[in-house]
Amino acid sequence: MRSEWDMVFVTSGAEGLAELARSPFDVVVADMRMPGMNGAEFLNRVMRLHPGTIRLVLSGQADSDLVLQVEGAAHQFIAKPCDPGILRTVIQAASEIGGRMRSEEIRRVLGGIAHLPVLPAAYQEIVALLAIEATTVEDLGRVVQKDPGMTGNILKLVNSAYFGLRQRVSDPAEAVAFLGVDTLKALALVHGVFSQIQAVPEGFNCEHLWRHSLRLATASREIAKMEGLGRGLESDCFTGGLLHDVGLLLLASGFPDEYRRIEELLASSSLEILDAEMEVLGVHHGEVGAHLLGLWGLPGTVVEAVAHHHCPRQSIGVSPERIVHVAEALSTAAGDCGVFGVERPLAPASLREPPGRRLEAWKLVLERLDEV
Ligand SMILES: [Fe+2]
Ligand SMILES: [Fe+2]
Repeated sequence: MRSEWDMVFVTSGAEGLAELARSPFDVVVADMRMPGMNGAEFLNRVMRLHPGTIRLVLSGQADSDLVLQVEGAAHQFIAKPCDPGILRTVIQAASEIGGRMRSEEIRRVLGGIAHLPVLPAAYQEIVALLAIEATTVEDLGRVVQKDPGMTGNILKLVNSAYFGLRQRVSDPAEAVAFLGVDTLKALALVHGVFSQIQAVPEGFNCEHLWRHSLRLATASREIAKMEGLGRGLESDCFTGGLLHDVGLLLLASGFPDEYRRIEELLASSSLEILDAEMEVLGVHHGEVGAHLLGLWGLPGTVVEAVAHHHCPRQSIGVSPERIVHVAEALSTAAGDCGVFGVERPLAPASLREPPGRRLEAWKLVLERLDEV
């Protein structure tokens, strides 16, 4: 590692902050237990002062309470004792993702995001459920998987190297079952993981966006089932669909003025949303969502589906990336795209990588969902 990266080692949080003040760092790795200032406090300060820096934390299994305290400020958690190979892989992957985001400013704004916001109705529902003694993980799973924000936040936690799961988890219900009712209670009530949606620009209809996302998630999973992709990829399709537009919310709340300009462009031209975003911000919501979810360690297939949902890569077969794209195109064509109330039926040419003869069958899946 020493020959590839410039590394600086310090023995306390205060020294770490002094180093960061001297020169910027791409990645910081903190220990949860440090003299003077613990890892949670250190990383919270780093998030505030240097949001563009990727933040990783090493923690012993006995510190699970502390882990919950820092889960917003850390991009990923790693269990101690830590295999150097795992640490290297996590740092490598995180810095590669970080380096791909061209805009320094957007990297900084995204770096300051501790959680994805949750719709008030879903928040009320989960708090009410948690107050009932007999609530099961299945009950909680049903609520979590309806809300993109809750799902993203929980998948971040479960997929961190801290839990040492051999396979990445993309199924929100499985993630809830893994964490258990008590952890969910602590996350919701003590640590505020399910923070409700704050200010978004006027005209940005978050409820509509989340509804659209859930519809796409369900459609994508149904298509995956029909194609016989198996449970793992079905979950990737569901979660890819549920999270595909989180970048829209991140951009709209992080850059309200620019997003107003994008809205105007959409209303006054025939530009597609991706092109309008590229013109105004130089990035599009697919890459922005994928950047954050990638840093959070979500499964690669989900991250790719989010990144490319408007423009899937060629030769990707029947994959979550392609399914989410086609489901998005079909549902947009049916008029379900009104984030700003700008209804723009999709031109057939916008459907990239159409699934050939399968298209009719996939269309039927969406039509059937609408009948329910
Ligand atoms: Fe969408
Ligand atoms: Fe989108």
